[in-house]
Order: sequence, then C-alpha cells, then structure tokens
Amino acid sequence: MTESNDNMDVSESQIASHWREEEVIEPKAGFVAQANMSDPAVFDRFGLDNFPEYFREYADLLSWDQDWHTTLDTSNPPFFNWFLGGKLNASYNCVDRHLAEAKNKAAFIWVAEPEDEGDRVITYQELYVRVNEFAALLRDFCGLKAGDRVTLHMPMIPELPVAMLACARLGVVHSQVFGGFSGNACGDRIVDSESHVLITMDSYYRNGKLLDHKVKADEAVAQAEKGGVKVDKVLVWERFPGKYSSPTPMVEGRDYIVDDLLKDFRGKRVDPVSMPAEAPLFLMYTSGTTAKPKGCQHSTGGYLSYVAGTSKYYQDIHPEDVYWCFADIGWITGHSYIVYGPLSVQATSVLYEGVPTFPDPGRPWRIAERLGVNIFHTAPTTIRMLRKSGPDEPQKYDYHFKHMTTVGEPIEPEVWRWYHEVVGKNEAVIVDTWWQTETGGFIGTTLPGLQAMKPGSCGPGALGIYPVILDEDGNEVEPGSGKAGNICISNPWPGFMQTIYGDPDRFVETYFAKYNKNPNSKDWRDWPYMTGDGAMQAADGYFRIVGRIDDVINVAGHRLGTKELESAALTVEAIGEAAAVPAYDELKGRVPEIYVSLKPGYSVDDDIEGQVKRAISQIIGPIARPSHVWVAEDLPKTRSGKIMRRVIAAVSNFMDVGDTTTLANPEVVEEVRLMVQSAKVKAGQVPPNLPKEVQAELMRFGEES
Ligand code: WT7
Repeated sequence: MTESNDNMDVSESQIASHWREEEVIEPKAGFVAQANMSDPAVFDRFGLDNFPEYFREYADLLSWDQDWHTTLDTSNPPFFNWFLGGKLNASYNCVDRHLAEAKNKAAFIWVAEPEDEGDRVITYQELYVRVNEFAALLRDFCGLKAGDRVTLHMPMIPELPVAMLACARLGVVHSQVFGGFSGNACGDRIVDSESHVLITMDSYYRNGKLLDHKVKADEAVAQAEKGGVKVDKVLVWERFPGKYSSPTPMVEGRDYIVDDLLKDFRGKRVDPVSMPAEAPLFLMYTSGTTAKPKGCQHSTGGYLSYVAGTSKYYQDIHPEDVYWCFADIGWITGHSYIVYGPLSVQATSVLYEGVPTFPDPGRPWRIAERLGVNIFHTAPTTIRMLRKSGPDEPQKYDYHFKHMTTVGEPIEPEVWRWYHEVVGKNEAVIVDTWWQTETGGFIGTTLPGLQAMKPGSCGPGALGIYPVILDEDGNEVEPGSGKAGNICISNPWPGFMQTIYGDPDRFVETYFAKYNKNPNSKDWRDWPYMTGDGAMQAADGYFRIVGRIDDVINVAGHRLGTKELESAALTVEAIGEAAAVPAYDELKGRVPEIYVSLKPGYSVDDDIEGQVKRAISQIIGPIARPSHVWVAEDLPKTRSGKIMRRVIAAVSNFMDVGDTTTLANPEVVEEVRLMVQSAKVKAGQVPPNLPKEVQAELMRFGEES
C-alpha cells in the first residue's frame, strides 16, 4: 500500500489548486417539520464526552432479551465488543415484534423486471410465516445450528431476505454472494467460510432475459470441492414456484427444490434463538489488496443497533413511507439498508428484480409513481445512467420524493444537481452517504433535517463518528487546508465489522497497523480505523471523498481488487504478465483495463482479448469484464522489474506519464502510449479533461510486481 502514498503527496498541491467550494443547500422546511431527527440537542448527546454511552440511543431502538452490562468492551483492541452481556435475535427484531401493530403492513413490495408480471406484496405476517417455515427447514432438514455458516447466491427476489432472516432466527451465519458474481467466485467464498449448504435460485430476469442461475451452483460446488470444502446440500428456489426454469439439471441427492421441501414444514414455528450481542450475524466478502477477498464479519447486537439507528435518522423512514433502495441485497448496502435497517424500523420497502433502464429509462419513475415511493436510494452510476439515457423522464411521472440517497462512489456536482433538480424535483433532501462493507452503516453523511447539503461532499461524520484525515506520518491534516490524506475514524462504533473471518491478523494489519503506535494499548484512542479512502475536509468540516488509496478499483460502485483481476487474467495460458488499471468512464466511474504481455510462442492473433475477457467474467463475474485488454511486447517496468501501473494508468486516461527516465525500459512507454491512444482516438474514446484530484486518484497505483 505504501507505493500509492508518495503519489498522493505529489498530487496534494495540484489538488489544492483544483479545490472548488460548491454551494450549500438547506433542506426544505416541509421535510424538517416531519423529520425523525430535527432537534439540534442530538449533537451534544453524541459528543465525545458521552462516548461510548451515546450509542445506547441506537441500541434502545431494538428489543433485547437480556440487557447488556458493558456498552463497549475494549479489553482486546482492535477487536471491540459492543453491548456485552446483551442478548437478542435479529429476525425477532425485524419481524416478530412488528406483528402486534403491523402484521398487515407490507414489509416488501417486489417488482419483477418484466413489466406485465404483477407485483408480489409480502406483509409482515407473511414474512413471519415464511421465515419460520424456512428456518424449520434449515434446522431440521439441513441440520444447521447457531454458529454454522451458509452461503447464499441469490438474485433480487423476496426469497433472499426470507433466507437471511431464517438464518438469523437460528443464529446461523449467512454469507450472501452477489448474484452477478460467477460460480467460481461463489465457490471460493464457500471455501473460505466453510459452508456445507448453498442456497440459490434457478433463474432470474436481467435486461429482458431469463438467466440460468442454477448453472452457477454447479460451478460453485465444483470450485469449493477443489478448495477442500464439500457442499452437501444445494437448496434451489424457483423463480416461478412449481415450475423449474433452468436448463441445468438438478443433481440427485444434492440439489433440492425449496418449495418441495417446504411442504413438510407448513405452519411450523421456530423460536428465535437468543444470541449474544457479539455473535456473528453474517459475512460479507469484499475486495482488498490481495487476490483473496476478505470476509467482513458483522455482529448481531452492534450491527443491528447501528443500522436501525441510521435507518431511522438518516433514511428518515416513518411507518407510512414507501422506501425504495435501488441496490442489490448482495452488497452491504442491501444488507444494511434494504433488509436489516428498514425492517428493524418497520418499513415498507420496494425490491426490484432488474436493471434500471429496462425496458426504458422511465421505468424507475413509473415504479415510484405507481407505488407512491417517497424515499429513494441509489448509486451515482445509476443516476448517471438514467441522466444520460432519459434526462427528461422524471418530470413525466407524478411521484414525489421527500428524501433521496446517493451511495457508493463520489458523485460529480453536476450529476448531484440533476438528481436534486430533476429526479428530486427540487423537493427532496439528499444524503450522500459515505461508508463501506467494513463499516456496517453510514459513517460520513449529513443529518437530513439538521445539516445542509453540499453537492459532491458527503458531509461531516455521522452521529457519534469522528473521522480524521491523517498524513503519511500520522499527523492530522487540518480542515480547510485543501490537502488530501488518508481518512480514518478515530473512535470505535457498533456497526463496524468484528474481524476478517478466519484471519484476525489480516484485520489488524489491513486496517490498524499503519496508524497504531502501541500494539499493546487497551485505549481505543490508539486504534484509528484506516478506511482506505483518500479525502479532503473543507473549513466547514464537510468531507469530500476522493476515492480509494489502495489497490481497489470502484466500478459502478462495486469494489474490485486489481490483484483479483490480474490473477484471473493470468489463468489464460498465453499470458506472461498482467497489470490492471482504472480508466475513467462516464457512467461507471471507473472501468478496469488490463495490460498484458505474452509468453513466447503466442501472438495477438490468439484472440488474447477475448480469452482474457472471458476468463475474468468466468472467474469473477461480468461486472469485472475489462473494457480493453491491451497486448504489448513488454510493460513499463522499474529497474527491479516491477510493472509501473501508474504509468500505464496515465496512458489509458490520456494523462501526463511523468518522468519515465528511471525506468528499466522507458522506450516501452511511448510504444504502449501510441498503441492505446491511437486506438482510443479512432474509437472516439478519448476521456474529457479530468480534474486534478481525479487524475491523482487514477494514477495512485505505484509499481507492482
Ligand atoms: C468504497 C466502499 C457504501 C456501501 C457500498 C459500497 C466508496 C462509498 C461513497 C460516497 C464517495 C464512496 C469509497 C469506499 N464510497 N460511498 N458516498 N462518496 N465514495 O461499499 O463496496 O465496501 O465500497 O466505496 O471509496 O471506500 P464497498
């Protein structure tokens, strides 16, 4: 990670010269009047003097079977435990406790991608029945019990939250893998989590096509077996219950149609298992610096408290609202802000199966109009896509949002303004929520009823979260200095992950080693959490996130490790060396480009580009597919033989390659530049002039072996 840092230093002055303050926009009075949080006294309550006790306010939103005795246990930093001694069940908190008051209220309204297929409304009562029956199946047919891990590989379908909540009811740890990921990627996560049960689906709709999903289960099981983990049972939900809709055959004695099995569990009830607050609730894998994804382990009590509190105050969900988080449950956004947070505050949520622009870019606004959605939550990549393909669509539909969220990537101020003016019709408040798989919930955002918005900035730290920007030596970068640095969180909070599953050393190393000065310290102040993002802080305290400082590329809000991409490329027989770099993309933010050199005896004629693209789609998933695969005689290298990814990134993005005279092979740079840039000019793919901080972010990768 160190090689990226000197690059950051070099760019600081450039960033400073580009820094431009955007206007500040106050929330509308109508919003403030109804907001769940509009009392400024909350800032005093969440002042550091009251740390950690202020987080009781979030925990008190839940129903506990047993009260905790210690709010924050710091006996083994940085493994912090929240609400120690407390016991609760997540499925009880999301479902059972709402029945008395709201059993007929819709928990989910599921919208299929085909527009003529009716919606499915799942009331809290129905959710309760289905979660219980499925929990009974998991317990009695699969033999699962508290602490076991189960892998889910499911698309956006109500059976996914049913399966998650059924696991939670038993204390079984679920690990949902994004449905768009390949069978191989799923298999690797099965191995890491040692799951013996895989829950999947036969098929689902995406962009007008019914995709075969079951085939991925077969690949996943085979991949897991190679890694030494045997999957005993594959549970297959059907997209059309009673009608198996995949060309891939079921495997006798291993694969089971869930609806067939459920016949034996009709009406069964399972008592929610009372779990210690610190019991793991789920794993969510994410990319980092090495090729192996990290299993972020989230707790039951701390996590659920944090997502309940932030759903209530930041998403401003009231019982009468219709909330639509247009994200996939397969990512942390969906876990926290479609399933656990909203259900714990008794929301009605919309689930949508497909792509935003199917069959046309008016689709989201038709759904919003028809269902009366008034809270809308999505990512900049979707906003950009809708803005490009249907800039005037929103005004054709009669919907009104009171609140909108943007999440997952930095949003350009122009795109923010379109979201505000056109999608939000100048009525909705916007929260730009900065957070991560690791953090469980929002860590940087405005509190919508109390703090003004600023396009392109996420805002200050969330309630009780104290971010700080540190330079390479651990000194604080002052607000308003116009300098970027590593944004860290100086205090623990309940939503933060507990560890990397099975690899506590990597947890300490990745997130804490750089800024911890005393590994034996029991004082939480000595353990700032390094987020891996670069950021700047304005004089008013608002943060602007510049992007990742580690070897991660954020493609349409999805994190991809450069090492994962490179190892996938290297599985192609012909490839000798591979380097992945981020390229600017108008819609997706960044896309990966792969540079390769070939082993002797191979040539470009061997369809290298096709082979590499297929390998990456196959091994990681179609979202990781590079936009270009460039085949070069040789790649720019340092004298010690490391590939200069920073130089390659500059070439891909038409930026200044800088001084290359110290390279082992400076002449290669010009050859590669000519090849890449002339091809892009010809194809009309020259990027616009990029702001300096974007350039710095694109070129942050140093030399890599
Ligand atoms: C990375 C985390 C947050 C849940 C979905 C993604 C980037 C996230 C913002 C934002 C600027 C953002 C960061 C972060 N990011 N939200 N509002 N503004 N950048 O979770 O896959 O773990 O990715 O997404 O770079 O580190 P993730």
